[in-house]
Amino acid sequence: MAALDTSRSVAVIGTGAMGAGIAQVAALAGYTVRLYDNRPQAVAKAMSDIAAALDKLVQKQRLGAPECAAAIARIHAALSIEELADTALVVEAIVEDLEVKRALFAQLEGVVAADCILATNTSSISVTAIAAKLKVPARLVGMHFFNPVPLMALVEVISGLATDAAVAQTVFDTAAAWGKNPVHARSTPGFIVNRVARPYYAEGWRLLGEQAADAATLDAIMRESGGFRMGPFELMDLIGHDVNFSVTQSVFHAYFNDPRFTPSILQQELVNAGFLGRKSGRGLYDYSTPAASTGARQAPQAEAAQPRPEYVSYSVAQGVASTQVLGAGMSDSLAARLRAAGIQVVHRKAPEARGNAVAEDAPAFHCNGAAVYLTDGRTATQRASDNQHPDTVLFDLALDYGSATRIALSCADQCSPAAYQAVVGLLQAAGLLVTRLDDVPGMAVMRTVAMLANEAADTVNQGVCSAQAVDVAMQKGVNYPRGPLAWADAIGLDMVVKVLANLAASYGEDRYRVAPLLRRKLASGARFHA
Ligand code: NAI
Repeated sequence: MAALDTSRSVAVIGTGAMGAGIAQVAALAGYTVRLYDNRPQAVAKAMSDIAAALDKLVQKQRLGAPECAAAIARIHAALSIEELADTALVVEAIVEDLEVKRALFAQLEGVVAADCILATNTSSISVTAIAAKLKVPARLVGMHFFNPVPLMALVEVISGLATDAAVAQTVFDTAAAWGKNPVHARSTPGFIVNRVARPYYAEGWRLLGEQAADAATLDAIMRESGGFRMGPFELMDLIGHDVNFSVTQSVFHAYFNDPRFTPSILQQELVNAGFLGRKSGRGLYDYSTPAASTGARQAPQAEAAQPRPEYVSYSVAQGVASTQVLGAGMSDSLAARLRAAGIQVVHRKAPEARGNAVAEDAPAFHCNGAAVYLTDGRTATQRASDNQHPDTVLFDLALDYGSATRIALSCADQCSPAAYQAVVGLLQAAGLLVTRLDDVPGMAVMRTVAMLANEAADTVNQGVCSAQAVDVAMQKGVNYPRGPLAWADAIGLDMVVKVLANLAASYGEDRYRVAPLLRRKLASGARFHA
């Protein structure tokens, strides 16, 4: 299979935000592009927007002037569908309405050649349903771009039940020739990204609802500890709460009200209030004044400076790999950071097993009497009670403990202030901003990443796409710093399963049920990626 030859022309129907971007990318890749919209002024606007965007690339010296002129010359307006008769691929990006899309494709069937591929950029409608009324449903495929199209590398190539595998492969190869990162997926609600990303928002809402911290603090933890480009709340303010809430509702209903996808009452209230985010001047944050909109927002919570402890003991036990204490390699980078800050890190032999529970629950660190653990999905209060050690402090997952700038702690209700403050001082000495979360199960980054990995694992288990595809999709479609399954591998599948099982036990909700593929991989000792 191969990409469509550049001697063939491509049509884009619906030249709004998405269609204009798709046309730009196709023209730059060397194809003649025909643009059609039922509002001719939309075509004219798209053509001038594309010319302006390409001009900017020339000014920034990312595109040569001759290439720019050639790309612009390849784009042609079509005044009727009939003018699209010679195209090899039609990409539809019109209004998100099943019947309107079906009517358009039915009309196209009577115009284009038998070998023309029909692609839809739908973000939420079943590709199977769009194709169902066609004479040849095998030639219809989803070609789902992300906004803004010229910048976002991902294209989900969606096969409906009737889609010919060769058609999907041609669209995949063509998207690659356009400089994109395509992935194959089966037509299921939300496809890959709009499904697997739901926990990023949903766990944010749950944490906010349970008063773990305010929005600015939770956003800061997800960015500065989790490594995400934007925290969930600033991201939803950018997307618009009306749009985000409606996607969540549509995925929830499409999965027959699976509690994993339950929408948030808090977000519904924002929508009810008209606090839609940046576009309305207010969402979780206030954008009504220039100062507010340029990021002079409420500061995230950070603990006041505490004295640095002289030493910390680091639990790497004989016979207990450090990975079992904290997760692959992570304890080592935090310990290295403490050492580099001049803190004496003494190795401490973990207690000999007094039953498995003690051996397994060796703290990552001991500091001034506090037992310090990476969260395993239990609250600090529960863990203090389970271990009969009141001075218990938990820290959250970080993408990379070596380079994180912030770390979140939570503290058992029975922990003494002195023990907690010693841990704060320890991490501050290592150059970290320390943020306190109320003692919620699973903290923020760990809980979110475990749920992302859980959803990703189910998506793979249900044959929607491969493990490789889901990780590419989340990195290229929504800029995640690491694919959720690669991240689960790095944390250790035992830890991910433990976190989810503990969340399920804490909340008693089906929402946190562990994906069977996670358990299966764990039992066989396999990983998602070699
Ligand atoms: P838009 O509203 O900016 O553009 C839609 C264009 O289609 C308009 O210019 C409109 O005049 C034209 N149109 C509507 N009905 C038509 C018809 N029957 N025949 C010809 N032209 C028609 O919409 P946008 O955001 O570009 O979305 C288009 C499609 O892409 C939708 O299916 C949407 O779900 C999907 N999508 C949107 C994303 C986004 O972030 N905006 C992301 C990924 C997919």
